Amino acid sequence: MTQPNLKVKIAGIEFANPILTASGTFGYGEEFNEYIDLSRLGGIVTKSITRHERKGHPPPRTAETASGMLNAIGLANVGVDAYVKEKLQFLRGLGTRIVVNVAGFDLEEFVYVIDKLNGHDEIDLIELNISCPNIKGDGMEFSSNPDIAYKVVSRVRSICNFPLMPKLSPNVADIRPIAKACEEAGADAISLINTLYGMAIDPSTWKIKLTNVTGGLSGPAIKPVAIALTWKVYNTVKIPIVGIGGIMDYRDVVEFMLAGATAVQFGTANFVQPNCTIRAIDALTDYLRERNISDVNNLIGKAKKI
Ligand SMILES: Cc1cc2nc3c(=O)[nH]c(=O)nc-3n(C[C@H](O)[C@H](O)[C@H](O)COP(=O)(O)O)c2cc1C
Repeated sequence: MTQPNLKVKIAGIEFANPILTASGTFGYGEEFNEYIDLSRLGGIVTKSITRHERKGHPPPRTAETASGMLNAIGLANVGVDAYVKEKLQFLRGLGTRIVVNVAGFDLEEFVYVIDKLNGHDEIDLIELNISCPNIKGDGMEFSSNPDIAYKVVSRVRSICNFPLMPKLSPNVADIRPIAKACEEAGADAISLINTLYGMAIDPSTWKIKLTNVTGGLSGPAIKPVAIALTWKVYNTVKIPIVGIGGIMDYRDVVEFMLAGATAVQFGTANFVQPNCTIRAIDALTDYLRERNISDVNNLIGKAKKI
């Protein structure tokens, strides 16, 4: 069989393959340049950007658990001006799609940051982080109430020159009304999930492991949650879904696509194996070829009920 098609489309933009990196786990791309050929990735999603530079929470801000990790970084980032000046410079011309993840503590901050990014044509897509569980304020509010999600997404949509992809939280009773509100507000795609609330305590010292007390759980532990939410949202909205949560290899990619994802993001896996994304692209190609599947898009939403 000839080479299967790996190209997917999100918001009218073509990605060379459905494998992207998740925000906060891949820096601004530079950090991984010596380990992998970045041009082979479907896309890079960069660390959340805010109006000003942020140092984030004091350490320790990560902790290992039995099947994943906890983090409370607190949105440490260089701020939008330095991002535009220094980071976009590197990302420009890498030959992969560039997704900029934007965070804000209020609606005006989202608008401010997007306004600064408008006009920088190397950006392909904006991922709107309305779901960070690790900031006071509370960042989560934006994706736990459909009315507020609608307000944020529609306001940002009205001033944003790029396709818009709100990133949803799993820390809600029902994700469907939030996803629907984002779609109605003009979102071009939806990504999910951000991390789940978690906490860990050392039994020998009785000390809580994170200075922020609670953090976000990521890694293999959260994959079944993410698959269920991908499936639910796939059956709720018409816009494409980018699946995130515990993806470690090509089998997880296939699972997310069968649940309804058009593309996926690798997060925690990058810390375990820096070349996990490239390996997954190659293995996904082999998987499709062995099964005589000519187009990766044929997997989307094809999970069968028993
Ligand atoms: C250390 C760390 C930092 C993160 N920082 C961000 C961030 O700045 N913005 C964001 O939207 N998500 C952030 N996330 C969440 C990831 O993008 C992803 O949604 C989550 O980790 C689930 O995917 P995974 O299980 O593959 O890691 C972070 C995750 C980790 C582990």
